[in-house]
Amino acid sequence: MSKLSNLALAGLGAVAMLAFSGAGFADQGVVTANPANGKKIFENGIGDKVPACATCHGDKAMGNDDMGTPRLANIGFVYIVKQLHNFKEDKRKDMTMFQMNDIAKNLTDQDMRDLASYEDTFPLDNPEVSDLKQLKANGTVVGESYKGKILVTYGSDKVSACKSCHSYDGRGADPIFPKIGHQKYVYLVNQLTHWRDGTRANDPKKMMEKIAQKLSDDDIHNAATYLSQAADSTAGDGYQFNNETVLDNIKIVK
Ligand code: HEC
Ligand code: HEC
Repeated sequence: MSKLSNLALAGLGAVAMLAFSGAGFADQGVVTANPANGKKIFENGIGDKVPACATCHGDKAMGNDDMGTPRLANIGFVYIVKQLHNFKEDKRKDMTMFQMNDIAKNLTDQDMRDLASYEDTFPLDNPEVSDLKQLKANGTVVGESYKGKILVTYGSDKVSACKSCHSYDGRGADPIFPKIGHQKYVYLVNQLTHWRDGTRANDPKKMMEKIAQKLSDDDIHNAATYLSQAADSTAGDGYQFNNETVLDNIKIVK
C-alpha cells in the first residue's frame, strides 16, 4: 500500500466503514484475492453462466465507447468489488447493455475479489483513449476540453472541484473515489447523466447525486471530454495512484 493510500484511508475511515458494510468485507479473518483466477474469468468467463469480461470491457480492460463499457484497469480494487456487489444486489442497474446484473449474480465474493485484483495488474499508462473525433463524426455530442479542465480542477459556483474527491486529473483516491481520468467518454457521460436523473443511486453518501444534479448537459460533456483524455501521470505531477488499496484482511495471492 502506498503512503498516499494510507493517508487516504486514515482520512476516510468513517466513510470507508460505511461503504464497506454492504460489500462482504464484514467477516474478520484473512481472505484472499487471486489475480491469476481473475484473469481466467476475465478472459474466458465461467462455463455458460458468465461471459468473458474481455468481450465487452476489452482485452486490456480499457473499455469500449461503441458498447458504452467502462475501463476497469486500475480504477480501484475496493471500488470494483463494491460495484459488483451493487449489481448483484440490484442496488445499481446496468443501464447500457442490461447484462451486468445477471453477470454479477453468478459471481461469488471470491470471484469478485479475484477479478478486482486482476484488474489492478495492468500497466498504469495505457495509451488507448476515447477517439473523440470519431465519436463526433458519428454524431455523439463532444464537449470542450478546456472548460472541462476548469470544472475538474477548480469546480464552479455550483459544484466543488471533481479533483477534491477524485484527485488530480481524476486519477482516483481509493478506496472510496474511483479513477475517472482516462475513463471512456461515452461511459462518463452516461454515468453523470444517470447520477443526475437518479437512475444510478448507489453512492452511500449521495455525493455524486448531489453534484450531478447541479451539472448542465454542457458541464457533463466538457468534464467527460477533458477526463477521457487525461493522462495517468505527467512530468509536472509525479503522483501515480495505483488504486490498489485493499483492506488489511485481504491477502493478494501472487
Ligand atoms: C455484455 C457486455 C459485458 C460483459 C460480458 C461484462 N460487462 Fe461489465 N459492464 C458492461 C456495461 C455496459 C457496463 C456499464 C453499465 C452502465 O452503463 O450502467 C459495465 C460495468 C461494469 C462495472 C462497473 C465499473 C465502474 O466503473 O463502475 C464493473 C466493475 C464491471 N462491469 C465488471 C465486469 C466483470 C468483472 C465482467 C466479467 C465477469 C464483466 N463486467 C462483463 C458490460 C459488460
Ligand atoms: C464529494 C466527493 C465527490 C466529488 C466532489 C465528485 N465525486 Fe464523483 N464520485 C464520488 C464517489 C464517492 C463516487 C463512487 C460512488 C459509488 O460508490 O458508486 C463517485 C463516482 C463518480 C463516477 C462514476 C465512476 C465509475 O467508474 O462509474 C463519475 C463518472 C464521477 N464520479 C464523476 C465526477 C465528476 C465529473 C465530478 C466533478 C464535476 C465529481 N465526480 C465530483 C465522489 C465525488
